[in-house]
Amino acid sequence: MILLGIETSCDETSAAVITTSSDNSCIQLLSNVISTSMNLHAKTGGIIPEIAARNQIQYIIPVIDEALRMSKKNSNDIDAIAVTYGPGLIGSLLVGVETAKSLSLVWKKPIIPVNHLFGHFYANWIATQDMLASQIQFPAIGLIVSGGHTDLILMKNHKDISWLGGTRDDAAGEAFDKIGRMMGLAYPAGPAIEQLAKRGNPNAIKLPRPIMYDKSYDFSFSGLKTAAMREIQKHQTLDETTTANIARAIQDAISDVLVYKTLQAAQRYNVKSIILGGGVSANQTLRQTFIDNLKNKIPDVLFFAPPKILCTDNAAMIAAAAVYRPEYANSLELTANPELYFD
Ligand code: KG4
Ligand code: ZN
Repeated sequence: MILLGIETSCDETSAAVITTSSDNSCIQLLSNVISTSMNLHAKTGGIIPEIAARNQIQYIIPVIDEALRMSKKNSNDIDAIAVTYGPGLIGSLLVGVETAKSLSLVWKKPIIPVNHLFGHFYANWIATQDMLASQIQFPAIGLIVSGGHTDLILMKNHKDISWLGGTRDDAAGEAFDKIGRMMGLAYPAGPAIEQLAKRGNPNAIKLPRPIMYDKSYDFSFSGLKTAAMREIQKHQTLDETTTANIARAIQDAISDVLVYKTLQAAQRYNVKSIILGGGVSANQTLRQTFIDNLKNKIPDVLFFAPPKILCTDNAAMIAAAAVYRPEYANSLELTANPELYFD
């Protein structure tokens, strides 16, 4: 099967072409084109929906064109079109959904609407140089950590998926971005905090690990944001060492909570794999903290995180999700749903 994926839920405009083996056990990427309006949002410290939507309109056709060209496929080769229909910014989502509907009608190809949140997990099923077919074993615990979401799910198989808990306030990526903004860093601040943290002293500043030890699988990062703000306000100017120490403290606090809660869930549900997804899962220290803790506590559990380029928003993951959750829709009736959650 050959699928065209389209992703426009936020500030990335992306199209990808994937091909699957006959039994769907192996997904290969033929192209994955991503255009972002991130630079336009860097100065404002967050995404302006109107600007994001206008950029989606400008880039959607050239991006799809380029994805087809790079894959050396044309519209006749495509078996179905997979498109993100939620959650996300309504103006951005509509661009992808309406484009996919138009292509579906003109090309006479079926359309598969995909929940963006599932897309982040299915990035793990795309073949990489190290791994030709995914070795993920069920049951699995999935942790999605992005700018908009922090959720733990239990996947018994591709059809049996249940939500265990999520953030009560800010998402993990949002916490990185908001604290980064207080430190004077441009949006999105996660990657910059990761770089700064490398030079930070882990014992210099201690920040709280909110609701880490409660019984739920929920998260809360707004208290951490307030504690970080107090730490930042202690200094009239942030010198290089203090900046690095604060970055290290933030990253350690967020990583500790994410890893602890995910391992609690993995033990409780006796799973065989843990899979990560979302922009924050690109963080190397977070990945290493997972690997180290798993080795010490539950060494039999397998750990998966997508290649970095597939952690942040992209269309390849949307096409991959459509392979395992192929719910076809009527092209005329499909509509974007900005509030979509786990279904
Ligand atoms: O998944 P994503 O591209 O968009 C959403 O669906 O939200 O995630 C973007 C988020 C931003 O908050 C960004 O700061 C964070 O992912 N992020 C990181 C890193 N790379 C991206 N956070 C920490 N460390 C990173 N290396
Ligand atoms: Zn995302």
